[in-house]
Amino acid sequence: MIRMAEKRDAAQIASIYRPFCEDNCVSFETEAPDAAEVAARIQKVSLQFPWLVDDRDGTIAGYAYASQHRVRAAYRWVAEVTIYVGDAFRGRGIGRALYSDLLERLRSQGYFKAYAGIVVPNPPSQSFHESMGFKLVAMYRGVGFKQGAWRDAGWWQFDIQAETPSPADPRPPSPSPPTPR
Ligand SMILES: CC(C)(COP(=O)(O)OP(=O)(O)OC[C@H]1O[C@@H](n2cnc3c(N)ncnc32)[C@H](O)[C@@H]1OP(=O)(O)O)[C@@H](O)C(=O)NCCC(=O)NCCS
Repeated sequence: MIRMAEKRDAAQIASIYRPFCEDNCVSFETEAPDAAEVAARIQKVSLQFPWLVDDRDGTIAGYAYASQHRVRAAYRWVAEVTIYVGDAFRGRGIGRALYSDLLERLRSQGYFKAYAGIVVPNPPSQSFHESMGFKLVAMYRGVGFKQGAWRDAGWWQFDIQAETPSPADPRPPSPSPPTPR
């Protein structure tokens, strides 16, 4: 089932995320956060955004969450989104299910756009985002230095809902029951 992340998921989430910090350039983080740091991130993010996990009888197959894109007030209707699926679980529709749930929750909270930052090249992630309806809108050239080289990062945009003339402020995430899969 897909459900909101809890503190007890932090160790498994840290273990899914670690290789993308230490072994390659998928993440621009260079030191993988430990379980305590991931727990703190879940707690902070969950005040404002959904952090979802795909829980298979206690095994976390993958996770996706939203976070603040920029701090200036006029950006408050947009969110950044992030997703990681464990290597044993990829290619089975888990990413699609997590993002569909995440984007629907963001829509019901009152967000209008979602942005995914992808260090390129990352063909699986680029194809995945485009298959979910994200469109490439910007490319930062040489914006990060990792593993001995300057790296480009692209930004993909998803229109969560049509723009309205007087948007209400986004609401906090609802602690709704998990979605059965
Ligand atoms: C990108 C990622 C989240 C996709 O998750 P997933 O569960 O494997 O994806 P799904 O099975 O739901 O696939 C949905 C669609 O994405 C595309 N896709 C997924 N993996 C792909 C791959 N390796 N190559 C090309 N397209 C791919 C396909 O269009 C697929 O649709 P289909 O099943 O109808 O062919 C996953 O590969 C992953 O975690 N990668 C490592 C971490 C990462 O790069 N995260 C993103 C950081 S920006």
